[in-house]
Amino acid sequence: MNHWYQKSLLRLVEHSRDDVIALLDLAAKLKADNKAGQETAYLNKKKIVLIFEKSSTRTRCAFESASFDQGAQCTYLGPGRSQLGDKESVADTAKVLGRFYDAIQYRGFAQRTVDELAEHAGVPVYNGLTDDFHPTQMLADLLTMREHCNKDFHDMRFAYLGDARNNMGNSLLLTGALMGMDVRIAAPKALQPDAAVVKKAHELAEESRARILITDRAISAVQDCDFIHTDTWLSMGEDKASWGKRVELLMPYRVNVELMVLCGNRDVKFMHCLPAFHDRNTPTGELFFQEHGLNGIEVAREVFNSSHSLVFDQAENRMHTIKALMVATLCEKVQNCETDKSL
Ligand code: CP
Ligand code: NVA
Repeated sequence: MNHWYQKSLLRLVEHSRDDVIALLDLAAKLKADNKAGQETAYLNKKKIVLIFEKSSTRTRCAFESASFDQGAQCTYLGPGRSQLGDKESVADTAKVLGRFYDAIQYRGFAQRTVDELAEHAGVPVYNGLTDDFHPTQMLADLLTMREHCNKDFHDMRFAYLGDARNNMGNSLLLTGALMGMDVRIAAPKALQPDAAVVKKAHELAEESRARILITDRAISAVQDCDFIHTDTWLSMGEDKASWGKRVELLMPYRVNVELMVLCGNRDVKFMHCLPAFHDRNTPTGELFFQEHGLNGIEVAREVFNSSHSLVFDQAENRMHTIKALMVATLCEKVQNCETDKSL
């Protein structure tokens, strides 16, 4: 049975651990077939609309490139390029687009917008990032961790360091809890996840036997970890005037060589959803170097460029997992997406 058929992806945790694993299995199969030049196109004549109220490189291109491979067509509606939010409500937009398209991707600000789109569209809605969650990124991160660690999810240990009440912090905490992993979140008190997210994580952990640590001590969080994740210290939509305060709060959580060594696992891997400030090749990265004499903000250049870094494998997996998501939600009878193979 294909659980995903006609379902939306809003937070990820509305789906079960087994259903997520089935989707990762499909992504792995589509990835292997693609690399072997033997991909089956499941999405001929399907149409997907991509609404972006924030910028994107990976997410937009993953949807477009995966659609191309699968025979589907996309329409891109960039920031300020539709009536949504100004002259037309979310519900009306959803009802209209649901009549034109087979699925809707939305990237924007409030989680309630993507929830409302899903409520009214009548077709699957994919959350391509909100202020609170980034579930398509979670699919890529899980596939990447599975590819680079010879353990079941339950036995994997990962830490996330930095702004832990942003979309990546919330999503990694809940995803790790759903999958039964050993999850460590390290952030200053002011940037730790909201109580409601922590409560949800503990509820999921009761079922999955996940272990959850939320701490302000980076060193405790990374002990014996298989993976160390971080993200930008200032997310899209946040006031650039907050940079100074963020740097002050988050400097102890910067992923540098010392921290990678202190974790105690010589094979530890570094992960980042990207884009990352990891050198002087951006205006913000250069300014940080001028002010602090350091190459890379949330991650040191030496870590980002090291053999421990999985960031480009992770980015590539955005495409394979988004492809699997579209195939599973739009093609009922796709193979390799059975939650229970005996059914
Ligand atoms: N990781 C991620 O979502 O990248 P984009 O912002 O480029 O889509
Ligand atoms: N937290 C980041 C993630 C970017 C993919 C942001 O929202 O800007």
